[in-house]
Amino acid sequence: MLIGKYEIKNGILAPMAGYTDIAFRELCKAYGAGLTVTEMVSVRGLVHGNAATAELMRIAHNEVPSCIQLFGNDPSDFARAAEKLRCDIIDVNMGCPMPKIVKNGDGAALIKDPERAGAIVRTIKNATDKPVTVKTRLGYGMYNDGAAELIESVAKSGAAAVAVHGRYAEQKYTGCSDIRKLASLAKNCPIPFIANGDLADTTVDPPFSAVMIGRAALADPAVFCGERVDPFELARRHIALLREYFDERYSVNQCRKFFVHYFKGVRGGKQLRDDVNRAENTSDVYFALDKAQAAVYN
Ligand SMILES: Cc1cc2nc3c(=O)[nH]c(=O)nc-3n(C[C@H](O)[C@H](O)[C@H](O)COP(=O)(O)O)c2cc1C
Repeated sequence: MLIGKYEIKNGILAPMAGYTDIAFRELCKAYGAGLTVTEMVSVRGLVHGNAATAELMRIAHNEVPSCIQLFGNDPSDFARAAEKLRCDIIDVNMGCPMPKIVKNGDGAALIKDPERAGAIVRTIKNATDKPVTVKTRLGYGMYNDGAAELIESVAKSGAAAVAVHGRYAEQKYTGCSDIRKLASLAKNCPIPFIANGDLADTTVDPPFSAVMIGRAALADPAVFCGERVDPFELARRHIALLREYFDERYSVNQCRKFFVHYFKGVRGGKQLRDDVNRAENTSDVYFALDKAQAAVYN
């Protein structure tokens, strides 16, 4: 599929706050992800030059094209933020259902205000020449399929593609993503349509233009190349990348989060996770991995 002038040749890694940092995105890209997207970045934080915000926007050398996801609700904030961005594609979050986001009118709240959503896309387009994409859900309230109107509005305003998670915002992560509803939305969508939600395979069939994978990639970043990767090899590669970009403390924390997924069902996985929970630095984590691997292979 094309996003503006950029050809996306494989599945897309979904943005996931707390997980899709620069190290994990570089890892997924190395395993074949067609596009990686930063976790969501506040336009307000960007406009005010917040240091934590800048940290979220670092881009890895292999993220070509690169994509930063923004959240907010004031079109003029988006315009000012967009001018500051050094990336190829700008994605706007119009799907996050978390109360602290929605209560400010950001994320999924925009599904209820398609006019404002369109204005956001239009203002970014006027401020930069970067393609703008939108990520949303089927609708806000259960069975209230607001995405159709939202898509119409953002497409008219010049959005290059839309990604839709097949759940309603009020559903959060309960129930299942509805692939049939996604297909019917995609059939009537005037711009490339990216399907998202509960997918664990990068195969893409019409009417979809691409698939976006989130949680399945947390357990297996190699989902993008369809290979099974040894979890110990994966874990070591991930730590090396974490240490390239982050300090010891953050790196060990991320190991704790990811190893739950990497070593699910692996013999000795529980002991390994316990050891990593006690680790004080990444040397301890490497040591725990060596110990667990020796136990598996002996
Ligand atoms: C921990 C976590 C953090 C997430 N953070 C974001 C985010 O920052 N921006 C966003 O658009 N979606 C976010 N999502 C939603 C995912 O991008 C995706 O739409 C959702 O997980 C469904 O896809 P999946 O079933 O493949 O995981 C997050 C999901 C999870 C589980």
